[in-house]
Amino acid sequence: MWQRLFMPPDASSVARDVDLLYVFLVGVSVFFSLLIAFLLIYFAVRYRRRTSDAVGVPIHGSTHLEIAWSVIPLLIALGAFFWGAKVFFRISRPPANAVEYYGVGKQWMWKFQHPDGTREINNLHVPVGQPIKMTLTSEDVIHDFYVPAFRVKMDVLPGRYTTAWFEATKTGAFHLFCAEYCGTEHARMGGWVIVLEPHEYEEWLAGARGETRLGSAEEIFERYACNSCHRDDTSARAPKLAGLFGRDVRLVDGGTAQADENYLLESIFDPNAKIVEGYKPIMPTFRGQMSQEEALALVRYIRGLEDSPQE
Ligand code: CUA
Repeated sequence: MWQRLFMPPDASSVARDVDLLYVFLVGVSVFFSLLIAFLLIYFAVRYRRRTSDAVGVPIHGSTHLEIAWSVIPLLIALGAFFWGAKVFFRISRPPANAVEYYGVGKQWMWKFQHPDGTREINNLHVPVGQPIKMTLTSEDVIHDFYVPAFRVKMDVLPGRYTTAWFEATKTGAFHLFCAEYCGTEHARMGGWVIVLEPHEYEEWLAGARGETRLGSAEEIFERYACNSCHRDDTSARAPKLAGLFGRDVRLVDGGTAQADENYLLESIFDPNAKIVEGYKPIMPTFRGQMSQEEALALVRYIRGLEDSPQE
């Protein structure tokens, strides 16, 4: 009952351990706070000055009492220490049969990769009952991988790998947060961990394999560093792509070409075939590097780019 009131759902193998320790610590704090407050008031009333000329009685201390109030808190503190250490070791050591997944934080999204290479953004599908080891890193600033329902929280640092592990014990969707302030969109950097039955996970994986391994078009665009030249600013060394699709393009040899699918594909795989007026033939070919699927995804992406109104 208390759990439903005060805790997120417990959906991992360590959640109960963490909760019990937490409840113990809160319980000890509440117990001693109430005890001290009660004694404070009780003694103030019980031993108040009763007449204006009353004189206090000297006291000589009590060794037994002093030992008791030293040893009992010591035992409680050491108990909390060893209990906490036990839970800490459990959540920081992935079991030997854990399957490794990768997570990359980036302003402001999570990129995940499954053991078979399937990728997804912000959502992470996992099978229930399987220990999962997350290897985490960041592309820019410090983020923090946080799934309250699993009681899992780990800093995600640029230039370093950190690990966290969990074993989901319930199916369902559980919130995933970034728990380290990382800039403007920090609050929206999150998603869901979707826990599926193993066979459902296999089905999901089979369906997702094709498209998500490819990544989104924006990802492909970045992966091949297209944006280092095709940019909207004045330093762009290559034609602007927004609003390009469907237009007639003037070429250096005086002719024109229509920017349709074939033109864009040709420009990716054979960039020197048609050089746009005003630009130099500096674009490298992506033949042999970029798959057809990726190129097609890019063409669809360019097609959907709207021209920005300020130009
Ligand atoms: Cu990433 Cu906050």
